Order: sequence, then C-alpha cells, then structure tokens
Amino acid sequence: MEKRHELYAGKAKSVHATDDPDLLVLTFRDDTSAFDGERMESLARKGMVNNTFNAYIMEKLQAAGIPTHFEKRLSGTESLVKKLEMIPVECVVRNIAAGGLVKRLGVEEGKALSPPTFELFLKDDAKHDPMINESLAETFGWATPGQLAEMKSLTFQVNEVLKALFEEGDLLLVDYKLEFGLFKGQIVLGDEFSPDGCRLWDAKTREKLDKDRFRQGLGGVIEAYEEVGRRIGVRFD
Ligand code: ADP
Ligand code: CDP
Repeated sequence: MEKRHELYAGKAKSVHATDDPDLLVLTFRDDTSAFDGERMESLARKGMVNNTFNAYIMEKLQAAGIPTHFEKRLSGTESLVKKLEMIPVECVVRNIAAGGLVKRLGVEEGKALSPPTFELFLKDDAKHDPMINESLAETFGWATPGQLAEMKSLTFQVNEVLKALFEEGDLLLVDYKLEFGLFKGQIVLGDEFSPDGCRLWDAKTREKLDKDRFRQGLGGVIEAYEEVGRRIGVRFD
C-alpha cells in the first residue's frame, strides 16, 4: 500500500489517497479545535494518542459486529481506512446531560438521561453544525430514511458496547458523536472515536477527562486522554 496525494485537510486529521481506490490514510494531527474551528491549538502527542485510542475502539466495535471503516494502524499517527462516501450528518447519543443539551434546554448538567437521547446535526462548520431531524435530512437529500434508521440503530449499539467498556475503567460515557458513510452501498462507521468527540467523566469524582478540558481551559488535556486510554487497556507508544 502506497500513500499518495492529500485529498482533504480537516481541522484535526488529514486524508490521503492510496494506490488502492477503496482505501485512504487518515493522519491524526496534533491540531485541536473547538467552537467550530474558532479556537485552534497544537497539543503535543495528541495525534498519536487519538490514533492509538481510535484504533483500539474501532477494533472493539468491529469485534462486536458493528461495521467500521478501520483496517489497521499504520504508524503512530496514521491509520488505513476504507474510503467512504461520507453522510454529512452527525449522530449524537447522550447518557448524561452536558454541553449543548444543557445550554439549549436548561437541563441540569449531570442529570441521567433515561432512555438515552438521540440527536442529528448537519456537518457544516460554516452553519455551526445546526441541529436537524429525519424529515430535513430526507427532504434535503443528506440521508434516506433507511440510512437514518440504520445509523440510529448502529449508534445505539455502539452505546451498549462502549458504556460497558468504559465502565470497566470506572468511567462514565456521557455523550458522543459518530459519523457514518457508505461503502459499496452499505452504512459503515467512519471518522474517529476518541476523547475529542465524546465526553468521559470519572465515575466517582465526575472529573472531566475529555475535550471539555480544552474547551474550558482546564489544562492536562492529553494527560487525561492517556489516563482514559490506560484505564480501558489502550497501550500508547
Ligand atoms: P473536519 O472535517 O470536521 O475538520 P477532521 O479534521 O477529523 O474533521 O477531518 C477528517 C475528515 O475526513 C472529516 O471530514 C471526515 O468526515 C472525513 N472522513 C473520516 N473517515 C472517512 C472515510 N473513511 N472516508 C472518507 N472520509 C472520511
Ligand atoms: O460539545 P458541544 O457542547 O458543542 O455540543 P454537544 O451537542 O453537547 O456535543 C455532544 C457530543 O458530541 C460531545 O461529546 C461532543 O464532543 C461531540 N461532538 C463532536 O465531536 N463534534 C461535533 N461537531 C459536535 C459534537
């Protein structure tokens, strides 16, 4: 496999073509963004930590029967993935109220959500990733009803697998965002799962161990990501 030209440079990862038209290389950079890219900073080791963390999680999900784009980790910061036609819809599940939900609805942070909630957002930084719903996604052609149903079902399956995994490390999976795409017509989990795209709290102290440390200027961001990884069995280089 040969890494070729860059196709896209996102806020945190770069995407390269390969000599196989079905495969891409994702390079996890140290760049860290918040507030739709308004705040950008480079955090040493973040690329390696998130690439390693993501590889571990994707393998767990694949083993649990969830189709993912992940093929293998190529180096500290690079992974080989299936090339997906990305669906521009972000799927968010929440087990505990935090972040946008608290702001929007005035719910108390930390309130247990039963059953867990499911929300859709349009992946569009310029529009600040607005909240959407199934009807809008269908009408504007972002995803079909069948695709949306499949994405919702897979997002909740991920919840069962990962809540249990994090629980073993004395961690609460508060919420998370997933992105899906199409590979040869099939819905497949893409992008990444790392503390950049979810909220994880220590189960006893409720200390934040995710990207909120960056958003809220709490410091110790990468140390927290590594701590979370170690607790669930990730081995960093
Ligand atoms: P953003 O685009 O939000 O700034 P990133 O910096 O993480 O995000 O860039 C990675 C980009 O690659 C995202 O746009 C994501 O949707 C896309 N992507 C992730 N996995 C795949 C895949 N398997 N095939 C094609 N594109 C992908
Ligand atoms: O994080 P924020 O308050 O902006 O939004 P949210 O709706 O509360 O986010 C829910 C979860 O999805 C959090 O774990 C976010 O980190 C994640 N998310 C993400 O990774 N990328 C986005 N564009 C939006 C949310």
